[in-house]
Amino acid sequence: MFSLKVNGKKYNIDASTETPLMWVLRDQLGFTGVKYGCGIGECGSCTVLIDGEAARSCTIDAGSVQGSDILTIEGMPEDHPLKQAWIAEQVPQCGYCQPGMILQATDFLTRDPSASEEEMAEAMDDVICRCGTHPRVMKAMKKAAKQMKAKGGAA
Ligand code: FES
Ligand code: FES
Repeated sequence: MFSLKVNGKKYNIDASTETPLMWVLRDQLGFTGVKYGCGIGECGSCTVLIDGEAARSCTIDAGSVQGSDILTIEGMPEDHPLKQAWIAEQVPQCGYCQPGMILQATDFLTRDPSASEEEMAEAMDDVICRCGTHPRVMKAMKKAAKQMKAKGGAA
């Protein structure tokens, strides 16, 4: 038994500390916005924020992030500039990759809301989308970046 702090709330976890964080979040805690894609750290669909940094939860032992702040898409405020921009630009198609896409973008733009389009594209390049939404991802990121820049990166 160990505990995790997810989306601002503490949970007791009844699992081996070596269980991949992705499965604890999905199966034990019901945060199904964390998507299983490849299971080997290659696709980005399981991305969450750990202490503000994007991380692929399929490759992380759940017990190793005790004491950290874990954020899934469910914990992101609805009025966050990135969520709003995603809706405005109608980014998702099937939606499967999108939670990971948004959280990767959140990490990147929070650190550098003044990034160039090229830098944004590079930051998002290894989050795989089989529906080809990357052009709309870029539009949404540019839109959100303006607001995040005005707030000094914080959102
Ligand atoms: S499921 Fe974790 S990176 Fe693909
Ligand atoms: S929206 Fe379908 S995989 Fe990205």
